Amino acid sequence: MREISMAAHNSRIFASDLNHSHGRVAAMATPRPSTRMREQTYPPPFPSAWYRVAGSHELRRGGIVYRECLGTQLVLYRSDRDDQVHAMGAFCPHMGANLSHGRVVNGQLECPFHRWQLAPDGRVATIPYADRVPSKPCQPTWTVHENYGQIFVYHDAGGGARVAPPPPPYDFPAIDDIDSGRMVPRGRHDAGRVHMHLLEFAENSVDFQHFSPLHGQMLVPWTNIRVPFVQIRHEADWSSDPEQGHLAYFHNKAILEVFGRAIERTKARAKITFYGPASVVTFRIMVPDAGEILMFQTHLPVAPLEQQVDFQWFADKATPRWLVWYVVGNWISQWRNDIAIWENKIHLRKPLLVPGDGPIHKLRRWFGQFYPEETTPEADLENAAQ
Ligand code: FES
Ligand SMILES: [Fe+2]
Repeated sequence: MREISMAAHNSRIFASDLNHSHGRVAAMATPRPSTRMREQTYPPPFPSAWYRVAGSHELRRGGIVYRECLGTQLVLYRSDRDDQVHAMGAFCPHMGANLSHGRVVNGQLECPFHRWQLAPDGRVATIPYADRVPSKPCQPTWTVHENYGQIFVYHDAGGGARVAPPPPPYDFPAIDDIDSGRMVPRGRHDAGRVHMHLLEFAENSVDFQHFSPLHGQMLVPWTNIRVPFVQIRHEADWSSDPEQGHLAYFHNKAILEVFGRAIERTKARAKITFYGPASVVTFRIMVPDAGEILMFQTHLPVAPLEQQVDFQWFADKATPRWLVWYVVGNWISQWRNDIAIWENKIHLRKPLLVPGDGPIHKLRRWFGQFYPEETTPEADLENAAQ
């Protein structure tokens, strides 16, 4: 709990300086190129994926929350019968009232306007003044998965808001170390909104030549204050999973150099797993002699080029809380160093790459699988690779 409130405190510090100071890139932050112009350079904004739409703590039993995201509007509600969370279109199919102003009755969502009740599968369950109800589902729904203190929905880029959607092509991942109780919750951080495309976060991991200019300087955790004379040296590699195509892995080894001398005992390793197109990413950070930290970083596109970013982390029970706070704060400080670049750049379909630049095209081909074929940028990306 202590870390949670600390994270919230830091979020205020970050919000205040989000666009003003990012070390060496601060000068680029203003004036800002128009979102409309930037948006036209990118692939579509809402690829198919599991997305985090809320923290479990936001939805009490019988509660309803409204969300605008993924190019649509939806409500999440928690059943008063069995605590299951359901997601459906936010506006009543009868005459368009906002269902988040209604209430949950016996596991169904009751509209505030004429009190129709909708079942979790999108059918009309009851109409108080009619004997017969429409027999087919008429309200869009989403597959929901709740775990690890978070609520996720599966969005299908081909179907969008869909009545009776098919099951997702892959399940939300199970994380054994948390399921078994070995790792326990240690905090969360609402990092607010960042004006960027999901592709940029994925592409960042294969952009090996940006590590030194943007992440080569040690910062005081949770801040953008530089630690003098301490540099970070990175070694990185990226690969997609040969059997489960929606997974990709990024390995990073980091070591601190003080006055140019590498300090062996500061060596840390991180394995970063992309579950789909950077909507859900986990970091496993191995700290020598101190245990392991597992952190979720999630992106929810609330509008084209606007991501809600959340962090939530777990650690071995024995890992000291101060160390977890330090390591997570380090990562978040480094992540923030990219923001001014992301929020001001465009997507180049044919970047002028040279040897040493990292497998940008390989990443883009991988990313292309999360779009339906008729709109896929994959062909463009493939062309660009030649
Ligand atoms: S608008 Fe919802 S019941 Fe009429
Ligand atoms: Fe980066």
